[in-house]
Amino acid sequence: MGILGAWRGTLIVNWRRPAMSGTGLRGGHLTAGTAPNENEPMENLIFRSLVRFSGELERLASLPEQRYNRKTFPTVGQYDWLAGQVLYALIRQTRPRTIVEFSTSSGYSTTFSALALQANGAGRIHTVDIDLRAQEAARRWISACGLVDQVVFHHGDCRRIVPGLVGRGIDLLFVDSLHSFDMAEWYLTRVVPRLEGDALVHIHDVMPLEARVRIHGGPPFQSARSAARSNILQRAKSIVWLLAHGKAGSLWPASPARELLPLHKLQCFQPASSGELPTIDGNYFEEAVLIREVVREGSPRDFVYLHRLLPYLAQYEPQRFAHQDEIQRTDSRAAALEWNDCLWCRAQKLQELVAHKRIRAIRRALEHQFDPSA
Ligand SMILES: C[S@@+](CC[C@H](N)C(=O)[O-])C[C@H]1O[C@@H](n2cnc3c(N)ncnc32)[C@H](O)[C@@H]1O
Repeated sequence: MGILGAWRGTLIVNWRRPAMSGTGLRGGHLTAGTAPNENEPMENLIFRSLVRFSGELERLASLPEQRYNRKTFPTVGQYDWLAGQVLYALIRQTRPRTIVEFSTSSGYSTTFSALALQANGAGRIHTVDIDLRAQEAARRWISACGLVDQVVFHHGDCRRIVPGLVGRGIDLLFVDSLHSFDMAEWYLTRVVPRLEGDALVHIHDVMPLEARVRIHGGPPFQSARSAARSNILQRAKSIVWLLAHGKAGSLWPASPARELLPLHKLQCFQPASSGELPTIDGNYFEEAVLIREVVREGSPRDFVYLHRLLPYLAQYEPQRFAHQDEIQRTDSRAAALEWNDCLWCRAQKLQELVAHKRIRAIRRALEHQFDPSA
């Protein structure tokens, strides 16, 4: 990335990229200061935002250090700092008046949004969670951060609360809740269609298999960059996880390079206990499969997965965690850091692809994986 110069108040940036086929990413010129354009591909908007606000991302640097502090964030499974940088920059760029987030948990993701809204000097995030204790921790943390003016907490089932918020106009919908098929079907069919076309939609913990990132502790994807030592640690940790989850069959994945597997080839694993969700291919949840299938016809420039941005994100500062942050990484104090994949798009693009019939077909295909006699 090289900043070539300022021209008529607009920062002109020339960015080059390593060759990545099929990503939809194009080298060229980006203008960081131009007016919002609702037809602009999501990918461009993300880059423009990062270019323009990369100097502010240092504000977020303490968040990954706090992520595993259970006094601050008593719940596990938080959002992550890598995605949080994109979220922060996009909020700064697009200046949403209303963000709706489900779910809060103990407020890690909420903090990224609230910090950006505070810097904007306008806008609120409405955040919903069914878990009162988690949300109480979030309230304490948000208050300690001096962000109370930016956050409105709602306690309860998002399926009851969010429909009432849609009527007020949502500029950014942030989904990071129960990763079940039912929940994803609900927001795709009941919330997304009611958004304005230019609203932004951000869904965390969704990933196509080729993303090669995963939920913490899941079976390994081989990473080209991993050092031998971290490979061994990663493999050891994965084996423990697999054995604990009764998935010894996938200890040694046959092929490291995985493509967008067809639905009928996905391996599904029953939940270990009644409180858990089934996992798909030992790696991710039903929601990720549904989203992957729904957006697969869309342009990768309009449906941007975080893992595709990684080579470019690594060029920004502060990026001191970027390389370690991929799989079972460490922070500056050697504490573990992880990130999960996520998706960015505009509501209109998603609305064009959401079809009830298609969702029912995907559900049937997944049910068939669990019970081939069905
Ligand atoms: C992955 S966590 C959210 C993490 C959060 N964004 C963060 O960064 O810490 C999922 C949350 O969804 C909440 N949840 C599950 N079902 C829900 C529902 N029906 N309505 C609202 N929240 C729900 C859980 O209580 C849990 O806190």
